[in-house]
Amino acid sequence: MSAKRILLVIGGGIAAYKSLELIRELGRRGIGARVILTKAGTEFVTPLSVAALSGEKVYTELFSLTDETEMGHIELSRSADLLVVCPATADLMAKAVHGHANDLASTALLATDKPVLMVPAMNVRMWQHAATQRNIAQLRADGVTVMEPDVGPMACGEFGPGRLPDVPRIVAEIEAMLRPRSKRLAGRHALVTAGPTREPLDPVRYISNHSSGKQGYAIAAALAAEGARVTLVSGPVSLRAPEGVDLVKVETARDMLKACEDALPADIFVSVAAVADWRPVKAADKKLKLKGEGKSPAIELTENPDILRTLSHKKKKRPALVIGFAAETHDLEHHAQEKLARKGCDWIVANDVSGDVMGGLENEIALITKDGIDRWPRMAKEEVSARLAQKVSEALGRDRDGLSLAKE
Ligand code: C5P
Repeated sequence: MSAKRILLVIGGGIAAYKSLELIRELGRRGIGARVILTKAGTEFVTPLSVAALSGEKVYTELFSLTDETEMGHIELSRSADLLVVCPATADLMAKAVHGHANDLASTALLATDKPVLMVPAMNVRMWQHAATQRNIAQLRADGVTVMEPDVGPMACGEFGPGRLPDVPRIVAEIEAMLRPRSKRLAGRHALVTAGPTREPLDPVRYISNHSSGKQGYAIAAALAAEGARVTLVSGPVSLRAPEGVDLVKVETARDMLKACEDALPADIFVSVAAVADWRPVKAADKKLKLKGEGKSPAIELTENPDILRTLSHKKKKRPALVIGFAAETHDLEHHAQEKLARKGCDWIVANDVSGDVMGGLENEIALITKDGIDRWPRMAKEEVSARLAQKVSEALGRDRDGLSLAKE
């Protein structure tokens, strides 16, 4: 692999000093760093210390016409394989969301044609503020990778999420982003379900659940990034379809099953959707009315088809690798093991939903296969997805000779 190089934007925050350690660690791994130090960044680290560690000229807001003749700001933004903002302050992220280009760092972010990694660090209240969270969601929707900060005591004396992730975690993320995309799933068809289903009671009411679809959409995106053709069958959610993914929107469990069956054959099926277990036997064709005091309408329910179980038991068109999800609030692994057998799938991704997983940005999962249990630390849903897609690639790559491609 030829030597890799990043363009590192150091923002102004107390965590800026850790970017010096980051430069050193990257250097040890043969990854070069050219640095833009923002004006606020120079309040925390000096251009001289950065230059000494990176062995390169440091670009600051005092970017002069001489610099521009040496290396234009456009070239600077494209001279690297990856653009890393560390620490990414609330201000830098807000600028990137709105496409500002009023200083060197924001101009480089706007002009780059390379992947971008933001490593946020800020006060807990600033991190939790609706504006910051909105900006992060927008950056992710725009294709920027935003790491989750660490939780712990802060320099300002408060406690919570907002600390810069540990340097080894940042290095691992940078190495993963610099690794050439394997495209090991090229030629494979992946079918993913996501979101909730809606089971109508009458024309205006339905039974549903809190699933946001975030995990399923992120898995669809990660499988597409590994080169798979992806069909994403989604219940009603407010997310945009990931780049390069075929989105089929459905409402009910029965629609979802039909859409999945229509999408077969597939090599991989990942059943992430929170399918409603029951539906009203009959959806009234007119809005149900109050019948008077003490007389509420009785709703008779019937079981919905189990999509995961149905696809796992297909005789002819069973996908080679079937992955189910088990959202549990207690006895996670016991229930997941039982589910693996009952549903007839190959792997179960077990997650504890007793916290804020549904709708939240992070997930803590255990991957359960016939070979045993692999517990993963808590991480962003995108990181869970990238890892899972990697595991899928490895499994299908290993069995490539044994598993024939799904025939159209
Ligand atoms: O039984 P439980 O709902 O906990 O199982 C969860 C797994 O089964 C998930 O992978 C979910 O997508 C799938 N499922 C399904 N159809 C149903 C119910 C669950 O595909 N009707």
